[in-house]
Amino acid sequence: MTLVVTGGGSGIGLVTARRAADAGLRVAVLDRKVGAVPTNVDIAIPVDVTDSDRVHNAMRSIGPISALATCAGIAPPGGLLDTDPEELQRVFQVNVFGTVYAMRAVAPVMREAGEGAIVTVSSVAAHRGGGLLGGTAYAASKAAVIGLTKAAARELAPHGIRVNSVAPGPVATPLLTEPERFARDTLLNRVADADEIAEAVLFLLGPGGRNITGETLNTNGGAHFA
Ligand SMILES: NC(=O)c1ccc[n+]([C@@H]2O[C@H](COP(=O)([O-])OP(=O)(O)OC[C@H]3O[C@@H](n4cnc5c(N)ncnc54)[C@H](O)[C@@H]3O)[C@@H](O)[C@H]2O)c1
Repeated sequence: MTLVVTGGGSGIGLVTARRAADAGLRVAVLDRKVGAVPTNVDIAIPVDVTDSDRVHNAMRSIGPISALATCAGIAPPGGLLDTDPEELQRVFQVNVFGTVYAMRAVAPVMREAGEGAIVTVSSVAAHRGGGLLGGTAYAASKAAVIGLTKAAARELAPHGIRVNSVAPGPVATPLLTEPERFARDTLLNRVADADEIAEAVLFLLGPGGRNITGETLNTNGGAHFA
């Protein structure tokens, strides 16, 4: 089984890639920065996920791919009135288009094999309208990822491909500054570690998730109620 992890150069993606490689999977990471990719990962390709052609070529160079986790993302804090069009575009290019490009590059290979599993990474911000990590564009982009996940699940199910999302609350990664402040916004009064999110991603990709598609797993300590 070959798993591709976008954004596997840091945080949630890095831990997902490391844990999958520990479990014996062949793992490939696509990230802008590959300097910190764990040494047990088989392939590390420097790619900007907003470049559709490069994503496509990188996926082709990996060979058959059975699983994809799209963890690359950015979370600028700007609100509606202080996000300029360039930043708005950048957030959607990375978080939404980057996810679409990776899916489009792997889905034909999976369709040919008659099976495959994809997990996107959205966020509690999609449910809460932000208010935690990331601003207005970020919340909108993560809501788009959830819609995209459902639409892709519907479209790809006839080909044996499952598509789900993991929606974390605050997670201790380089993306999250001031973890203590964010902990207070969860019912459980804690910030997750990246291992907990990676476990959810790998569960949905693996045999435990074989009857689950189009679903969003909220791994957020109750932050969407808090
Ligand atoms: N940390 C949190 O609290 C939290 C909460 C909810 C959702 N998330 C989501 O989880 C995902 C992973 O975040 P993280 O916390 O691990 O952050 P991180 O910054 O540690 O990792 C993100 C990775 O994505 C890569 N990346 C960013 N833009 C890229 C691009 N254009 N092309 C290729 N790679 C790119 C970065 O280089 C980095 O390695 C993101 O989508 C984020 O929105 C994080």
